[in-house]
Amino acid sequence: EAVTVVAHPLVQHKLTLMRDKKRSTKGFRQLLNEIGMLLAYEVTRDLPLELVETETPLTTMMAPTIAGKKLVFAPILRAGVGMLDGMLSLVPSARVAHIGLYRDPETLTAVEYYFKAPSDVAERLVVVIDPMLATANSAVAAIDRLKDRGARDIRFVCLLAAPEGIQRLTSAHPDVRIWTAAIDTHLNDHGYIVPGLGDAGDRMYG
Ligand code: PRP
Repeated sequence: EAVTVVAHPLVQHKLTLMRDKKRSTKGFRQLLNEIGMLLAYEVTRDLPLELVETETPLTTMMAPTIAGKKLVFAPILRAGVGMLDGMLSLVPSARVAHIGLYRDPETLTAVEYYFKAPSDVAERLVVVIDPMLATANSAVAAIDRLKDRGARDIRFVCLLAAPEGIQRLTSAHPDVRIWTAAIDTHLNDHGYIVPGLGDAGDRMYG
């Protein structure tokens, strides 16, 4: 499945609280981290397991551990950082790649201002994080850059997606599966997701 909408009631409830324009900065930030944790649970649901010999206080058994590739979380600055701590609380050993992009307000193209990824990013499963998938210019630019660095196994997690963004991302990077809490109706003339929740970066950081 190219797109997974995470219908879990806790995710849906928290997202509704975030859409409320009266939600405080503090509340918005806390909810985004909480949803980040729940989305991390979903995006790691199918990771393969292998059995390792483990000594319990009573006996020895073959017990499951996560096999193969380790994770890199790759938040797109700024707003992606708002989900990072929640995700790291579930996968504390994950590495982090920071990708600084801002959207030019006129052209809506993504402009890179920072990129720093772990040296072994090519050997890891990379989970790109950004609350909003609007035109997908930011997501496509981030994934282009990660692929330049050799990353081959990439997933994308967001809070809200526009149909236009899903279309664009799946055609630019058909190998990248998407997890989102909701797919809204459309983008407005300024590239904002409608009904949406406004600008996630501004609501979190001002
Ligand atoms: C917003 C948002 C996404 C991007 C989505 O970032 O946080 O990163 O736009 O739009 P797109 O899919 O059309 O590229 P913004 O440029 O406002 O930066 P910020 O997160 O620093 O506020």
